[in-house]
Amino acid sequence: MKSEIKTQMTYWDSEADSFQKIYSHEKSPLSVWLDKFFRKDMYERFLFTLEHSAPIENRTFLDVGCGNGLYAVEFALRGAKHVTGIDIAKNMLELCTQFATAKGVQDRCSFIQSDLLEYAVNDIFDISIGIGLFDYIQDAVPVLQKMKQVTTDRVILSFPRFWTWRAPVRKIRLGLRGCPVYFYTKKKLVAVLREAGFQRFEIHSVGKLFCVVAYSANRERS
Ligand SMILES: C[S@@+](CC[C@H](N)C(=O)[O-])C[C@H]1O[C@@H](n2cnc3c(N)ncnc32)[C@H](O)[C@@H]1O
Repeated sequence: MKSEIKTQMTYWDSEADSFQKIYSHEKSPLSVWLDKFFRKDMYERFLFTLEHSAPIENRTFLDVGCGNGLYAVEFALRGAKHVTGIDIAKNMLELCTQFATAKGVQDRCSFIQSDLLEYAVNDIFDISIGIGLFDYIQDAVPVLQKMKQVTTDRVILSFPRFWTWRAPVRKIRLGLRGCPVYFYTKKKLVAVLREAGFQRFEIHSVGKLFCVVAYSANRERS
């Protein structure tokens, strides 16, 4: 395993519980307020993803960097045929399994501990998502290429924008905690998407993020 991946794995294993609390709001009222203010786009990207995934029923999903399973379980609850979540952090995947079981959708969810590039994907998915993932990946191109390869319809992604007040704050705060973060200008994002082979994509500004819907060429052939 690459040392970059090991670094991320260690960081996210240690952060799993506090990450989950950003969504569950099991925090002091002040911390919840701060999350709602400073992390508003985390909630907005969730709504963006659901809106652009429609129709969800009977479709198959791949969630790369699935974290604590918020998206995967929501897809399953909304009638997805099957959702596969991949993440490098074991503690995150334990949260996914607990959440899917609590919601009664575990039979339509699989959670795999792996880096996407090291995982031999045997399935083809209607939709793949990579939300809050590319912040932590040094070279997005091979990951995007693989997502495109295994997806027939569309890929939904988020990327942190470079020109925001929060970018340097995150770079320093997470950097000091051993978690490198990567940011994107629109120009760089377009170049990366093209290099990965996407010819058709939409880029939306959502708070301090770019949210992307990129269409797989496979869809045009079918
Ligand atoms: C900020 S969390 C986002 C989780 C979830 N997608 C969400 O938005 O709620 C980032 C996740 O990406 C995972 N991750 C980071 N690098 C990864 C990689 N190379 N392959 C798979 N997962 C990765 C981390 O373990 C972590 O769970």
